[in-house]
Amino acid sequence: MLFSFKLLAASASLLSLSQASPQGGFFSQSSAVAVASSTAKVSASTVSLAAAATGTTACNNSPDLCNRNYNNITHMGAHDSAFLRDSSTGFTESGNQYYNATVALSAGIRLLQAQVHLNDGVLELCHTSCALLDGGSLATFLTAIKTWMDANPNEVVTLLLVNSDDQTAATFGSVFNSTGISSYGYTPSSTDGPVATWPTLQTLITANTRLVTFIASITYDSSYPSLLPEFSFVFETAYGQTFPDFNCTIDRPTGLASSTAAISAGYMGLVNHFADTNTLISTPDITNLPTTNSPATNTSGSLGTEGQQCTSEWAKKPTFILVDYFNVGPAVETADNLNGITAVGRTSVSTAELTQSSGAGIGKGVSWAVLLGMGVVAVVNIVVL
Ligand SMILES: *[C@@H]1O[C@H](CO)[C@@H](O)[C@H](O)[C@H]1NC(C)=O
Ligand SMILES: *[C@@H]1O[C@H](CO)[C@@H](O)[C@H](O)[C@H]1NC(C)=O
Ligand SMILES: *[C@@H]1O[C@H](CO)[C@@H](O)[C@H](O)[C@H]1NC(C)=O
Ligand SMILES: *[C@@H]1O[C@H](CO)[C@@H](O)[C@H](O)[C@H]1NC(C)=O
Ligand SMILES: *[C@@H]1O[C@H](CO)[C@@H](O)[C@H](O)[C@H]1NC(C)=O
Repeated sequence: MLFSFKLLAASASLLSLSQASPQGGFFSQSSAVAVASSTAKVSASTVSLAAAATGTTACNNSPDLCNRNYNNITHMGAHDSAFLRDSSTGFTESGNQYYNATVALSAGIRLLQAQVHLNDGVLELCHTSCALLDGGSLATFLTAIKTWMDANPNEVVTLLLVNSDDQTAATFGSVFNSTGISSYGYTPSSTDGPVATWPTLQTLITANTRLVTFIASITYDSSYPSLLPEFSFVFETAYGQTFPDFNCTIDRPTGLASSTAAISAGYMGLVNHFADTNTLISTPDITNLPTTNSPATNTSGSLGTEGQQCTSEWAKKPTFILVDYFNVGPAVETADNLNGITAVGRTSVSTAELTQSSGAGIGKGVSWAVLLGMGVVAVVNIVVL
């Protein structure tokens, strides 16, 4: 599910360049969220008044989802949610999202994926290398999500963290516990294998165990009970695909014969639906983005089409979908269609792509092209996980 690279940034000059340049941080971007017209904007207080009037309260943006099992819902996810392509990073091609994780949550995203590296003894959200793009510390990221969850008590959030430097569950756990977000952590009945029936959202909300955390490639540690090894519960389709060639075939974990075999065994399906360019340096495919994220079900390569295709192939809708630039589409519309809901309580975010001219300020990030031009990147044509 990671950004598929065909290069490795590896030179002392790159390191010194990046140290000299401000790091695009999780907290440093300017306010660029376009809130829709006041009629379309639904504030939290409006929502709770409406809920009181009808006797129903929305769970994950719909009362219809409250009594549905967690694994019988499509949770729309932001791939590489901490890697921003906005004015804070000079609209870097290494960014995968135009808006940050808390804006994403307010817009209806319920799965946040991030790549975690160890940098000077600190877990940080870096894109392949902390010299390339550093999205801030895991602690900062989790604190922001906890603050959002504190303010939104009827929402269930899922995290998917990639353990890029093979750290232990305890190393992650100490950050989860020190930020306090671990108090929201849900621990399923089985912690070492798939769970066929997950609780309903309402059950998770009532227990206030509203955070489901998967970490790719960790060994479970009962001292941090809610940190779950991803591939014991979730299977994924391939990532790093090129438009419009998405498919619903299982890619990971290995050892399961097919997507349907995985579904039968109780695994939850995750669809990686983001396209990279097929050029020397593989970066997110911006050209086809409007179609890639489109809810249309009659168009090749669209999210709507793949959502339907996987649902049909698996005889079950995807539990998770990851996209780049979640606001374009908007991607969440496909989840709403699969879930059969009309969402309430979201903050509207512009569906436009952000560019240097649409954004405010001069960028200060480092792009692949600039690094290449400066001769500080060695192209070695490998895929870095
Ligand atoms: C995310 O972006 C919004 C809008 O720019 C900003 O108000 C908010 O503080 C940011 N959140 C975090 C956690 O940085
Ligand atoms: C899943 O949710 C759908 C509603 O979208 C419902 O019809 C179906 O019975 C649910 N499946 C299970 C196994 O609960
Ligand atoms: C971490 O937090 C969880 C949830 O609050 C708790 O169950 C666990 O015991 C804590 N772990 C440690 C080592 O303190
Ligand atoms: C699905 O896509 C992956 C990645 O592009 C590819 O390796 C695989 O062969 C495809 N599978 C099918 C059945 O098309
Ligand atoms: C797809 O469907 C939409 C309506 O949902 C329609 O406007 C559009 O023309 C259709 N496109 C194709 C290629 O059939």
